[in-house]
Amino acid sequence: HWRRRRRRTQPLLLPHLPWRHELHSLPTSPSYATVLNSSISNLRFALPDVGKPAAVVLPASKRDLQGAVLCARNSSLAIRVRSGGHSYEGLSYTTENRVPFVVIDLANLNRVRVDAGSATAWAESGATLGELYYAVGRSSRSLAFSAGSCSTIGLGGIVSGGGFGLLSRKFGLAADNVLDAVLVDADGRALDRATMGRDVFWAIRGGGGGSWGVVYAWKLRLVPVPRNVTVFSLGRTGPVELIAGLIHRWQFVAPSLPDDFYLSVYLPTGGVGSSSSSDGNVSVSFSGQVLGPKHRALSALRQSFPELGLTESELAETSWLDATAQFAGLDTAADLSNRLLGRSKQYFKGKSDYVRSPISRRAMAGIVRYLSTGPPRQGQGQGAGYVILDPYGGAMARIGSSDTPCPHRAGTLYGVQYQEPRAAYVNYLDLDLGTNNWTASVGGSSEAAVARARSSWGVAYFGDNFNRLVRAKTAVDPGNVFNNAQSIPPL
Ligand code: FDA
Repeated sequence: HWRRRRRRTQPLLLPHLPWRHELHSLPTSPSYATVLNSSISNLRFALPDVGKPAAVVLPASKRDLQGAVLCARNSSLAIRVRSGGHSYEGLSYTTENRVPFVVIDLANLNRVRVDAGSATAWAESGATLGELYYAVGRSSRSLAFSAGSCSTIGLGGIVSGGGFGLLSRKFGLAADNVLDAVLVDADGRALDRATMGRDVFWAIRGGGGGSWGVVYAWKLRLVPVPRNVTVFSLGRTGPVELIAGLIHRWQFVAPSLPDDFYLSVYLPTGGVGSSSSSDGNVSVSFSGQVLGPKHRALSALRQSFPELGLTESELAETSWLDATAQFAGLDTAADLSNRLLGRSKQYFKGKSDYVRSPISRRAMAGIVRYLSTGPPRQGQGQGAGYVILDPYGGAMARIGSSDTPCPHRAGTLYGVQYQEPRAAYVNYLDLDLGTNNWTASVGGSSEAAVARARSSWGVAYFGDNFNRLVRAKTAVDPGNVFNNAQSIPPL
């Protein structure tokens, strides 16, 4: 299907993978370590003591993918599906309890076909956000897609878990903009929206990756953007009380700005200077994008957030595509189409939470002071911890909390990475919340397993939507072929 279309559709992305023509890699293959490590984002899971797969399979077509699922089942290997490899807990290329497994890596399934006329795109799940954004932005300067900011994230994982980004206050999550999908189930069948059924189509749009089957491709709704957007990244430095005051105020401003505005906070650990807070000052940055011209951004932000001291020279107008490259830390928009560029590889542990009422100024000062005593940034941002606050409100508040499995909508002011979370975002996986503890490649579920999952991570990620996810899982994968440490267990 894709091959037939290839010559007529544009743009078709050039793959940048040296192992492009390999269909699988075994531990004895020269390419094995390169292929396996290629997209591992969290280096904790690249260490030698982490169990390795019996093979990495690289399907190049839907048929290959169907064959790979059946082959893995016949050889009693657990299946791990990987698109961009950004899982916070390495769930796309590890198993619990050293259960033997195969990685089905979709890196070769990265084709994107944009239909600017209908403002839709079909994208294979192995495409990165950068590859998708580049294809969309090249097809029309007035079209975009609403998802995350890191260009090397895979569509397979981010859409499966929601997908929040700079356009989400205006257009919702990536999962809110899925029109159709092709899901390869545990029997190797390719199901579309009509044949997979309502519960399963609901579950794959935010219920987390790895539970339902392999999403081969997504049909996406593209969204309108002006020819120029305004972007900025504002660094502010000062004493703890001053910076805490700015962040405290931000809580009231950012979630209630017009939908066209996105204004986030990035607060790194360590004070200003090379040794931790030696001069007593701390830094914070406010990054943002406004779907409109500079003068509108300036007047709205000066009025609603005068404490920020925004000046015109701190704002720049550019196309949405160039802005996207800039937020991804890339030099040019064309770099977005190279899945090997802009890949962050670090040892990290992430935690997420949602804030529903503003943190007091006093507590905020405590947080800022505490973070200032953490390790400072070294070199390319390595070594430091950080907190990112992502504003909700706008469309995020208008979409119902059970329209998709992602329940954190109206009433949520912002998303945050925070200790001792009470709620969490499934794309920011956190195994501290609890795990399934599977000991075999398939099966192993029970009522107790469902109850355990519900009361720990299930409710934190999905709230009241958890029960419907269990129903969808039981319908599409009763044998629990697609499982991982925090997959939805069937009944
Ligand atoms: P990966 O391939 O590791 O898959 C993640 C999960 O989905 C695994 O369980 C996997 O089995 C499953 N899966 C993958 N492909 C599948 C498929 N085709 N079908 C079914 N299941 C599949 N999030 C966000 O919303 N906004 C953001 O801006 C960012 N930014 C960000 C930056 C960085 C540096 C990291 C490491 C992560 C983010 N994230 C994010 C979180 C990100 O959305 C989350 O980690 C995604 O699950 C990653 O998707 P990948 O396909 O890259 O991961």
